[in-house]
Amino acid sequence: MALFLITGGCGFIGSHLATALLRRGDQVRVLDDLSTGSRANLLPGCALLEGDVADPALVRQAMEGVDGCFHLAAIASVELGMRDWLGTHRVNLGGTIAVLDAARAAKLPVVYASSAAVYGDQAVMPIAESAAARPLSSYGADKLGSEQHARVAGAAHGVPTCGLRFFNVFGPRQDPRSPYSGVISIFCGRMAAGQPVTIHGDGRQTRDFVHVGQVVRALLAGMEAASLEAPVFNVCTGRPTSVLELAHAVAAACGVAPDIRHGPGREGEIRESYGNPALAGERLGLGEAVALEDGLRDVVAWLRAGSPGAADGFSR
Ligand code: NAD
Ligand code: UD1
Repeated sequence: MALFLITGGCGFIGSHLATALLRRGDQVRVLDDLSTGSRANLLPGCALLEGDVADPALVRQAMEGVDGCFHLAAIASVELGMRDWLGTHRVNLGGTIAVLDAARAAKLPVVYASSAAVYGDQAVMPIAESAAARPLSSYGADKLGSEQHARVAGAAHGVPTCGLRFFNVFGPRQDPRSPYSGVISIFCGRMAAGQPVTIHGDGRQTRDFVHVGQVVRALLAGMEAASLEAPVFNVCTGRPTSVLELAHAVAAACGVAPDIRHGPGREGEIRESYGNPALAGERLGLGEAVALEDGLRDVVAWLRAGSPGAADGFSR
């Protein structure tokens, strides 16, 4: 039995990870400021330290006695990063450095969330890890910065790390009420309530939607793969889905006729984004991805159950 720290453990992805660790018999400590996460997302048995991941003294305290750290705390919104450049940078890169710095005393392994946002617009699909990173948002730039600092942590301070470039993650507990939430939770929330959805632009832009269950498997395997070489892996399915196709798939999962409106395209929108999962498959040994339709059914069942917290059983 090991003790793990999860920063951002009250959030969407972190709370699924906490549940998986507890289920396999490990202990979990969470550091979270509850800005977008919620206590209800934690199972009893998780110790919660409430506060800021960019506070070095608090992070050092949170790291005491743990066997490894999963660093997921971030302001996970491209749009908020555009509005509050420096404020989000303090959390998204400053928080990562605080975690890596605290890990160096005991040389603890750190698995951290990077993002497909590091790639920006790419000409070649599917995107492999070897593609040149060209972020178009401050959020993506801070995730790329996190990867660079992880490299320094390994090379200069002996801290083993593993970075995971999540593509578009979806699943139960992604808040459908937040305007900064992912498209799947917004579409499911609205269609399940009989409301229309708005597609930004023509809807032909593609994304790689990866179920949170697959992301949790990648995080757990990432802890084993953490090394001083600071590897980074895509966490994706390799399957592109257009936003228009998605709207129809969500309508089918909700059992409603789709009511689709089109609004103006988003500024700085990435047109095509889907990843190559081969390297992660080989090095992290991830199994078959959850099919989009099955994952959508999970989200709809969770919404219809009244969006319950951690004791919900909606984990794959
Ligand atoms: P989330 O907002 O649900 O979770 C983030 C958690 O971090 C929340 O519980 C929040 O309260 C906490 N947090 C935010 N600022 C903090 C601070 N200053 N100090 C302490 N805690 C703080 O988002 P998520 O989707 O679960 O994202 C988890 C990680 O995965 C993030 O690093 C995000 O950037 C990354 N990611 C997510 C996606 C996705 O599609 N959801 C894609 C790529 C990368
Ligand atoms: C998402 C993540 C980001 C991550 C990135 C990785 C969220 C909120 N953001 O950004 O953290 O780093 O993937 O690639 O999960 N759309 C509509 N109508 C809506 C909402 C969205 O048409 O009501 C469209 C968007 O214009 C976009 C697509 O759906 O084309 C996906 O949008 P969104 O879920 O916000 O994610 P990304 O912007 O891809």
